[in-house]
Amino acid sequence: MIDHSTIERIFDAAQITDVVSEFVSLKRRGVNMLGLCPFHNEKTPSFTVSPAKGIFKCFGCGKGGNAVNFIMEHEHLSYPEALRWLAKKYHIEVEEKEVTPEEIAKQNERESMLVVTQYAARLFTETLFHGHEGMALGLSYFRERGFGDAILKKFEVGYCNEKRDDFTQKAIAAGYKSEYLVMSGLTIDREGYLFDRFAGRIMFPIHSLSGQVLGFGGRIIKKDPKAAKYVNTPETEIYHKSRIVYGIFQARQAISREDRCYLVEGYTDVLSMHESGVENVVASSGTALTQEQIRLIKRFTPNITMLYDGDPAGVKASLRGTDMVLEEGMNVRIVMLPEGEDPDSYSKKLSDEEFKTFLKENETDFIRFKTRLLLDEAQNDPVRRANLVREVVRSIAVIPDQIARTIYVKESSRLLGMPEEVVLDEVLKLRKQQTFRDRNAWPVQDAVVAPQATVQKQKAREETSFYSERELLRLLIRYGSEVLTRETDKETGIETVTTVADYIISQITEDELTFEDPLFTTIYSEITFNVTQGLVAGERHFVQHPDPAISSTVVDMLTEQYSLSRIWSSRGAFVETEEMKLRDIVPDSVLKFKGDKIKMMQKEIRRAMAEAAGDDEKISELQARYKAMTSLQKKISAGLGGRIVL
Ligand code: CTP
Ligand code: MN
Repeated sequence: MIDHSTIERIFDAAQITDVVSEFVSLKRRGVNMLGLCPFHNEKTPSFTVSPAKGIFKCFGCGKGGNAVNFIMEHEHLSYPEALRWLAKKYHIEVEEKEVTPEEIAKQNERESMLVVTQYAARLFTETLFHGHEGMALGLSYFRERGFGDAILKKFEVGYCNEKRDDFTQKAIAAGYKSEYLVMSGLTIDREGYLFDRFAGRIMFPIHSLSGQVLGFGGRIIKKDPKAAKYVNTPETEIYHKSRIVYGIFQARQAISREDRCYLVEGYTDVLSMHESGVENVVASSGTALTQEQIRLIKRFTPNITMLYDGDPAGVKASLRGTDMVLEEGMNVRIVMLPEGEDPDSYSKKLSDEEFKTFLKENETDFIRFKTRLLLDEAQNDPVRRANLVREVVRSIAVIPDQIARTIYVKESSRLLGMPEEVVLDEVLKLRKQQTFRDRNAWPVQDAVVAPQATVQKQKAREETSFYSERELLRLLIRYGSEVLTRETDKETGIETVTTVADYIISQITEDELTFEDPLFTTIYSEITFNVTQGLVAGERHFVQHPDPAISSTVVDMLTEQYSLSRIWSSRGAFVETEEMKLRDIVPDSVLKFKGDKIKMMQKEIRRAMAEAAGDDEKISELQARYKAMTSLQKKISAGLGGRIVL
């Protein structure tokens, strides 16, 4: 049994394009990649890879799945074998052991902690927008700095009251165990006295890729020279600073769409840039990126642009951390902001258009940037110039792609005024000295002969509710956490937010409806379980599901719609996205599902009537039920605009 966190790390490292590219030559087509399907014979490419979703799908033969499914299918490996195979490729040590009761407990512990952080995030936003102190201190602070409500809500920003144990007491009163409050870093336990870590701070929740709240950054708002400006969640079972970047949840689609990720330092920089319409941005939270963080970004794009405040000393210091990014094979560019400005201040100073133009026009390739910067500094001092050459060479040497290296050697030798051969020679020497992890090297194939992967094929189904069940699940998985309606109570001013998941689940629960398909039943119960825990089991949860039958079923669901939008957008027409129409689509789909259920019940009644032939009492009872169903059905089709054909 491969341990849970190892599986997560493998999934994090194994970007779909990277994995597929080993076997299929892919070309970029919009936000997706396209190539010839390795699973069937074709002359025109219909094999599509979505880096943002982490999935592949062939529109010719129908095969689809995540990176692990791809390896299972292509290399004919079982699930654990495919995981091991990928672990080897990405140099991840596989921890294998029997699952012990302690491990199950650990897993439950992680889940309980996520429930607590989710609750805390909600309470903090509630406090910021509706609490007396939150509005007076927190909200007014944001207003003064020029942040609008929409952006604060998008990032679920909140406020933690000043009273030392306000949060902790509220959470305990709401039924959360103090054990998990402490474990998740929200509460500090000093010899039995429990108090809040973040008292009196504005709160920035740090989300996982799939939107779960892992931890927080809390910024002080009062002037207090003794207190730290930021307090952050310490390392916990769910929050590992080195594995996450701030804002990736809100940025991931834009990063993939723009094929570029901006990197800034602070939480407020991320918020401000979003407000200026630049949404492909994440924050390193003031430190150099780790390998895991870089890989996280690399799942969406190989292009990273770092924004630096205009202070040369600071820039030089941060340049050191950049070799790691180059080493991962990313294309690094730099934008220097004018002296004294950070992305937050500067994006506010310029109009949205001006700011975007500024970013585009001031982008410099990293190697060129570094060479110029050091060149300026070294002037004509020969010793410093020699050091400079070494510095630049070191950065070039770590780049895994040989062609890119060659181009940089050319370019920098020109800038440095040195013969190309000399620079190249230095690069080669360095590469010989150091052993660079060669990311493109193929792991040696194990001698295991694996059984054929068994991805469950969909049986032909008679049940009339199959497609409406599938559609509801698709909406739940894709848009579960999207807001469907907002209603403000006129008297209390309290806003009730209904998400897509809230709506669908309550509709199904109220009428006590069930799913016919056993796989759908499992998926649905997993969704509802998560919702009751305050969590969202979204695309990523299911695409990376350990049960390959579930992951491939979900991939099929998710890709169907996207083949459609592909066709539309290629005609260049304006595409009204589904997201814009959820208010229509969701209730319609629920009605369609109910309509199908009624049809099935009627079929059942007809069968019962045939059986009850002769028993008049029974028959008339059944007839009455049948009629009631028919009138219900009529109402439903009226609600659907007559789209159900009876
Ligand atoms: N940071 C931290 N602890 C500190 C100071 C900074 O963790 N004591 C991290 C935070 O993630 C912060 C980032 O470093 O967002 C950048 O720091 P800074 O520029 O000081 O903060 P900003 O987020 O830009 O906040 P503000 O705009 O309010 O100054
Ligand atoms: Mn800052």
